[in-house]
Amino acid sequence: QESPHLYTREEVRAHSSPETRIWVTLGCEVFDVTEFVDLHPGGPSKLMLAAGGPLEPFWALYAVHNQPHVRELLAQYKVGELSPEDKEPFTLKTSDPYSDDPVRHPALKVNSQRPFNAEPPPELLTENYITPNPIFFTRNHLPVPNLDPETYRLHVVGPPEGQSLSLSLNDLYQFPKHEITVTLQCAGNRRSEMTRFKEVKGLEWNTGAISTARWAGARLCDVLAKAGHQLCETEAHVCFEGLDSDPTGTAYGASIPLARAMDPEAEVLLAYEMNGQPLPRDHGFPVRVVVPGVVGARHVKWLGKVSVEPEESYSHWQRRDYKGFSPSVDWDTVDFDSAPSIQELPVQSAITEPKDGETVQSGEVTIKGYAWSGGGRAVVRVDVSLDGGLTWQVAELDGEEPRPRKAWAWRLWQLQASVPAGKKELNIVCKAVDDSYNVQPDTVAPIWNLRGVLSNAWHRVHVRVAP
Ligand code: HEM
Ligand code: MTE
Repeated sequence: QESPHLYTREEVRAHSSPETRIWVTLGCEVFDVTEFVDLHPGGPSKLMLAAGGPLEPFWALYAVHNQPHVRELLAQYKVGELSPEDKEPFTLKTSDPYSDDPVRHPALKVNSQRPFNAEPPPELLTENYITPNPIFFTRNHLPVPNLDPETYRLHVVGPPEGQSLSLSLNDLYQFPKHEITVTLQCAGNRRSEMTRFKEVKGLEWNTGAISTARWAGARLCDVLAKAGHQLCETEAHVCFEGLDSDPTGTAYGASIPLARAMDPEAEVLLAYEMNGQPLPRDHGFPVRVVVPGVVGARHVKWLGKVSVEPEESYSHWQRRDYKGFSPSVDWDTVDFDSAPSIQELPVQSAITEPKDGETVQSGEVTIKGYAWSGGGRAVVRVDVSLDGGLTWQVAELDGEEPRPRKAWAWRLWQLQASVPAGKKELNIVCKAVDDSYNVQPDTVAPIWNLRGVLSNAWHRVHVRVAP
């Protein structure tokens, strides 16, 4: 075996632009990643932050890289090693960016620690119609900011003929307080079922990237009106910026159409309370956006800025993520500009009891779950099958009676079914129908997509029957 080329950190540093080629280090190894920059799933600009230096401080922020397939990919680009005097492994001198994250409830199933992403286990998820704050699913892309409620200001950019506002929490409390029950679902809920069919890129969510709370706050339409905004004929979008930001200072961002924001019936909130409490830090303290009926990604937490723009937010999460594609599209052919950003979500349901692989008693079985649809469409029925979809029974719906066109919250459902005598196993399936008669697809195959979003096929649970 040939001995590797040796380079000093100085030499590595000289390779930090396309002209000089782009080198990075990990441990004592040196890589030339010039050809990979444009292919980076997190975007070229993020990768370039590490150009000419160590990856460790950045990968400490994005633990998505701690996977064997990422290491293998990087290994292809190895060009040498650091020379002995520079071999001292890089250690982060500054403090851990996540060290200030809040303490979390031990019941949460953690899909990623840094940034923190976790879901309640199915047996707790549907115990309560309103999800208790400590087990509400959490989807963070960055460290949780620690904001002082005394100095917090929300910046609302006004139109030329209006006025920009800088609102303290107390200013927000002066707007009429509006309280509504809203279910929040991540576009990646049930992604693990897509992964089982064919690999996708993303966090492994099971059925718990969904939760329900009573949210209270000022209506966005009231705040926008105060700044002088009106509904306009031309297309416009309300862009939101979070106060959580990455090492370049780029904030989490997203947008919704102005028409939704200005519609009092759409009930978009700048929420400062969750189930009667100030928002917990993980859920956006002190203020977050709540967009009823719309994908979780637009409910921007730790809200810092609101502006009305002719175009959707330029954020990575609006333009390069949270979009759906044909099963035929892969990472070599994907054109993110060709697909609309996900806003309203499709009809969804899942079984939370019994659990896959469980053994149930013969005689009677209780089947429980949740069902929800986007855009304020009410769930009108949940069908359950014990034989993989050959025959069906209708489940009983619990929870708040939905208001017409404003069914923002889920229905919990249950079915008490008798287990056919002699059955050794059951293939339990559920599917929901909303008031537009939208239904769920029976399998994952036709809706599989490279990012693993919008996973709403019939939910299936296989159980054995105790003899
Ligand atoms: C995602 C590789 C540098 C930020 C990814 C993924 C790969 C990758 C393979 C997809 C992982 C998955 O979803 O399974 C690399 C390589 C790098 C590099 C080989 C260096 C040569 C960086 C740097 C940053 C960064 C320096 C940040 C400053 C991200 C982000 C994602 C990502 C934000 C997207 C995570 C998501 O989709 O939620 N990277 N990366 N990467 N990377 Fe990197
Ligand atoms: N807002 C900010 N500022 N930063 C984020 O990482 N994640 C979004 C959204 N708002 C996010 C954010 C996503 S993808 C989802 S699904 C929801 O917040 C999750 O909200 P929760 O953590 O309160 O459940």
